[in-house]
Amino acid sequence: MAYNVEIVEPKLFAGVVADEIVASIHDTLSEHPKCSLVLAGGSTPSAIYRALARPPRVTEVNWEKVQLYWGDERFGQSGEVQSNYTMVSETLLSFLPTPGPQVYRVDTSLGTPQASAAAYAELIASSQNVAQGAVPVFDVVLLGIGTDGHTASIFPGSSLCAWPGADSDRQPLCAAMPYPAQEGSFRITLSPAALFSARKIVFIVRGVAKAPIVKRVLQGEEDSSALPARMFTAVADKVTWFVDSEAAQHLSS
Ligand code: 6PG
Repeated sequence: MAYNVEIVEPKLFAGVVADEIVASIHDTLSEHPKCSLVLAGGSTPSAIYRALARPPRVTEVNWEKVQLYWGDERFGQSGEVQSNYTMVSETLLSFLPTPGPQVYRVDTSLGTPQASAAAYAELIASSQNVAQGAVPVFDVVLLGIGTDGHTASIFPGSSLCAWPGADSDRQPLCAAMPYPAQEGSFRITLSPAALFSARKIVFIVRGVAKAPIVKRVLQGEEDSSALPARMFTAVADKVTWFVDSEAAQHLSS
């Protein structure tokens, strides 16, 4: 499967991806009044968001026309696990001019993860002006990948991995998923249905620890139920992988 893969020197990675995000926002706004950007969580994006939040890039974007969403969020974390909203707030939102972007965060105060997922699906539908049950078309989606091949909070073996499949048209926009690494903990995640319809999908992967999973996902043969990030082979033409040279070291050209 031919992928769009950009291999970047580690020290240039954050700036190169930040430039790609700026360019994608500009491209979108040249044709649409707003740009919906779905943000990745975890640790990889923080340097990218900081690069976006500093001159020159911070002044290159008309933030008023940007709608920010989260690809996933930690639910009910007991405090020591930072939420993805907090990470974005500390690295990006705190530095943006006002008026700034419209921020559509996951509300994790609703008692149950299922209620949070349902509320986020409604917020997405209303802010994207799509009917309940219809699928929005996000302009740009950022995704990371775990060493187990998960992306957003779509974990190996998840029922969400059966995509595209027989009941794809009934897949919710957002789901509450048990977090495998922590008993009793949940993540709220956008579903493949919500992610696949995006105009542009950008994976961001850095570090030697990700080299094995990058090889398996980009050049392996495993089923996507084992490696959820491989679901995106079905839409490879709109996916670009930004991988630093450490994470790309096992790839064969
Ligand atoms: C999260 C992310 C998750 C992340 C990968 C990679 O909430 O943790 O959404 O999908 O993108 O786990 O995380 P790192 O960037 O920390 O390696």
